[in-house]
Amino acid sequence: MELWPVLERLPPQHHPAVIVGANQADDSAVVRVTDDIALVLTVDFFPAIVDDPYVFGQIAAANALSDVYAMGGKPITALNIVGFPEGKLPLEVLGEMLRGGADKVNEAGAVVVGGHTIKDNEVKYGLSVVGLVHPDRVLRKEGAENGDLLVLTKPLGTGIYSTALKNGALGGAREKLFYASMSELNRAAAEGLYDFGAHACTDITGFGLLGHALEMARASNASLRIDVRALPFLPDAAELAGRGFLTGGGMSNREYVKEDLAIEGKLPGALEMILVDPQTSGGLLVALPPVAARRYMEALAKRGVRGAAIIGEVTAPGDARLVVEAGG
Ligand code: CO
Ligand code: CO
Repeated sequence: MELWPVLERLPPQHHPAVIVGANQADDSAVVRVTDDIALVLTVDFFPAIVDDPYVFGQIAAANALSDVYAMGGKPITALNIVGFPEGKLPLEVLGEMLRGGADKVNEAGAVVVGGHTIKDNEVKYGLSVVGLVHPDRVLRKEGAENGDLLVLTKPLGTGIYSTALKNGALGGAREKLFYASMSELNRAAAEGLYDFGAHACTDITGFGLLGHALEMARASNASLRIDVRALPFLPDAAELAGRGFLTGGGMSNREYVKEDLAIEGKLPGALEMILVDPQTSGGLLVALPPVAARRYMEALAKRGVRGAAIIGEVTAPGDARLVVEAGG
């Protein structure tokens, strides 16, 4: 939702300890506690997007944790936020969902310390996550520099997969891949990111690659050039998009970036939809100098992060636009 017109009218929130706050549209807030320690604070929740409650719990947690990773932080605690249609669904569904969430939080090296459940018409679940970061080592959407390369750490296309699944057009093997991709933590992708020399970072979620790339471009006052030929996407995602398995979110993302997007060459419609495909729990988009980017890619391969790719570069400081290079 486009909330800025409302948020702008709220009383400004200022405090010397706030490093990243409500005035900056970043992935998490960051608040200094001591000279060496800052808290990374975020909350995220949404209605069930898959039928299996355990898998949904995992995905909701992976997504909530991701905003801490996107700031260069290390998650330490999480609180559950739950809406549940008591009486309409067995309580075991709630239990499975929370078990999925707890397993992911534990995999992240963090711990669930509580939560709150309300009665609701539909299942909703998410978490408020707290992480730690050194105050001088915060990664933000701003900071991408001319000449940086762009690394994307997860393949795109989970929105398209989800529509195909709802329409019975996603095979069993692809369905497994879909769940695995969305519940995969960005932990390995985020490890040591600051030490690699990363200048800027965000995670790819609802606004799709181009929506989140545009936020980085604006925050950094730079243009991002994305090479479609280098784009990692899930198998058959382009074919499924071509067959019309799209999302409403993808359409509005395309509208959202239109004004600031230049396409060079001939971009097939299916690939355009992959570029704006909403990702519930996507990978990180990282801007870092070329030598660092290659070292980072090698590290990702060693850590078993599959589907990461160098997808473009940062150019033209002062002109916050997106250029998509389609070739052909
Ligand atoms: Co985010
Ligand atoms: Co978020």
